[in-house]
Amino acid sequence: MREDILEFLMNRRSIRSFQKKDVDNELLKKLIYVANHAPNSMNREPWKFIIIRDEKTKEELSKLHKGASHLLLAPVNIAVVGEPDVSPDTWMVDVVNATMYFVLSAYAVGLGVGWVAAYENETAKKILGIPKEKVLVTLLSLGYPDPEYKPKPKTVKSPEDVILYEKWS
Ligand SMILES: Cc1cc2nc3c(=O)[nH]c(=O)nc-3n(C[C@H](O)[C@H](O)[C@H](O)COP(=O)(O)O)c2cc1C
Repeated sequence: MREDILEFLMNRRSIRSFQKKDVDNELLKKLIYVANHAPNSMNREPWKFIIIRDEKTKEELSKLHKGASHLLLAPVNIAVVGEPDVSPDTWMVDVVNATMYFVLSAYAVGLGVGWVAAYENETAKKILGIPKEKVLVTLLSLGYPDPEYKPKPKTVKSPEDVILYEKWS
């Protein structure tokens, strides 16, 4: 039993403040390679990751809404894009699996990740030149966590709150 991995999963928190230090591109490629190992229907891997370092682009994205400001504080932004044209029935589940593989592997190497709700956000799609047939799933801020940043404590539902046995009842 790998209790340490269970602890790792439960200790992960969203990070919204970062050190200035850049993230090595080879490391990013490695994390994306890990993401490509995520379970996905028929192994079609219907996703793309756009790596963004341009300050102007990050600034534009950070203005999408109130909860997007941390994009500008991160050395790297990642746009996760799903490809319904590659896997029409399952792309949504597939791309979320790949995103989570990416996020967890980032934590495993000491990086922090923040999320930004940007699902099919037309402004963001335009800024990033994402074609119509592709779906912007989320934007992530990524970098080495600011050691001063302390996420607010959170509580989670108990197993009893979310488990049903045998049928919906
Ligand atoms: C699809 C999705 C959209 C999110 N959108 C935002 C957002 O726009 N801004 C933000 O600061 N956090 C965003 N989050 C992060 C959540 O607020 C966060 O995951 C949740 O509060 C649980 O906290 P934790 O990640 O620290 O465990 C988003 C998370 C997900 C999965």
